Amino acid sequence: RERTFIMVKPDGVQRGLVGKIIKKFEQKGFKLVALRFVWPSEELLKQHYADLSSKPFFPDLLKYMSSGPVVPMVWEGSDVVRTGRVLLGATDPAASAPGTIRGDLCIKVGRNICHGSDAVESAKKEIALWFTEKEVVNWTLANEAWIYEIN
Ligand code: GTP
Ligand code: MG
Repeated sequence: RERTFIMVKPDGVQRGLVGKIIKKFEQKGFKLVALRFVWPSEELLKQHYADLSSKPFFPDLLKYMSSGPVVPMVWEGSDVVRTGRVLLGATDPAASAPGTIRGDLCIKVGRNICHGSDAVESAKKEIALWFTEKEVVNWTLANEAWIYEIN
């Protein structure tokens, strides 16, 4: 099954939203396979957001993302990369639908509380950047047959 990289950003941690964000993914039926609590270095963040290095907001983004601890996670499930971003909502919270994490819990694009991989390939890269292979755990969700059409 597919995996995605989801991260609670420093504002999400400071605002006490870690549990709420995890709960959304749990309740959806996705499976948590890795989780850390870490204050990320600028070096790691530069690699993580390498695609955005030419953007005018890049310095602010680095400052924001390195301002405190974050909660990087790996979630597994059918179509989890795309659906994970649906749960997060649009990048700009002003455009995120109500009911989504960003739509319900934040206001500004520069303080949008969570990150989600934008494609299966970037998910692979991001998972490898934030986790060792050993930290990603293979386990069976006991209620899988009630979530997926398997017999
Ligand atoms: P992530 O899940 O965080 O990667 O967001 P995204 O994939 O929806 O958007 P993108 O990768 O394009 O941008 C990464 C992050 O940079 C966003 O989540 C925002 O926190 C920040 N960002 C993007 N666009 C802007 C902008 O126009 N202004 C500011 N201040 N920040 C921005
Ligand atoms: Mg992105």
